[in-house]
Amino acid sequence: MNSNVRPADMVRITTPELAEKFIEEQVAAVREQVGDKKVLLALSGGVDSSVVAALLIKAIGKQLVNVHVNHGLMRKGESEQVIEVFRNQLDANLVYIDATDRFLDKLAGVAEPEKKRKIIGEEFVRVFEEESGKIEGISFLAQGTIYPDILESDGVKAHHNVGGLPEDFKFEGLVEPVKLLFKDEVRVVGKALGLPTEMVDRQPFPGPGLGVRCTGAITRDRLHALRESDAILREEFVKAGLDKEIWQFFTVVPDITSTGVKDGKRLDYWPVIIRAVNTVDAMHCTVPRIDWEILEKITERILSEVDGVCRVCYDMSPKPIATIEWE
Ligand code: XMP
Repeated sequence: MNSNVRPADMVRITTPELAEKFIEEQVAAVREQVGDKKVLLALSGGVDSSVVAALLIKAIGKQLVNVHVNHGLMRKGESEQVIEVFRNQLDANLVYIDATDRFLDKLAGVAEPEKKRKIIGEEFVRVFEEESGKIEGISFLAQGTIYPDILESDGVKAHHNVGGLPEDFKFEGLVEPVKLLFKDEVRVVGKALGLPTEMVDRQPFPGPGLGVRCTGAITRDRLHALRESDAILREEFVKAGLDKEIWQFFTVVPDITSTGVKDGKRLDYWPVIIRAVNTVDAMHCTVPRIDWEILEKITERILSEVDGVCRVCYDMSPKPIATIEWE
């Protein structure tokens, strides 16, 4: 598949049978393209890179070297899941880099949102290049490019994901087996490859991760409160089946304190904001009505389980005027 244009008559992959056929064709194409050479993949744990990894593991097994960089801004349990699925279950070649300190040190004191994004993006490429430079004999670079990325990068809108192409591209070629697929098709293929549903049906997660939800200058303690409150929200939404109904949901811990009271003492604590949105195109969003009891349960759990938090708020703002993320 060399062309970057999706043929008008290409069948949409909507069933497991069509996915199987697609996988078979791509396995053959990848084997033909790379022969016995090694392929490198930046495996973030997002839908696209995970599906590409699973497909390439099927095609070339240990000739694929996956590199997972944990930038310290992942949600709770995400890097662990990447290791569990790819190293333990699929027996893949996985290099795991915990670069948390490096990213958080670089970000210390930086409050401006675009500057934070830039630091995270650049540092990601730097860590990936440094670590992949240590691996011998890599000939190809695999990428989880999907069709909307190609359409969007058509000189109109720069794709703002973390981990763009390394600057001095030193590979024989690119391996992009899902580049003509839309997101829903990638998910069908991922399921056919046996990836866990929570990985394949994962909601959008920004490249800069929790970095844009810990507003202003990131501190480790506030990032911890963000990660823990986000995990509680996800757990309770899954229990209530809301993960199937709501497009994207997460918590935010803004860079402000408000007054709390504990054991008769007044304390400066953070608020946690719950953000949940429904949308078709991410351009216009509505805010779903959540059952009051579910919100009460989440509030109770966050206030009793997460240190440093004294208040929980539900963000009622549609897009526009508010963006989905807080910064
Ligand atoms: P906004 O906040 O602009 O978000 O309404 C729209 C969608 O894009 C995601 N988003 C990002 N994704 N890198 C990404 O890969 C980013 O810097 C970024 N910022 C926002 C956001 O989560 C939402 O789904």
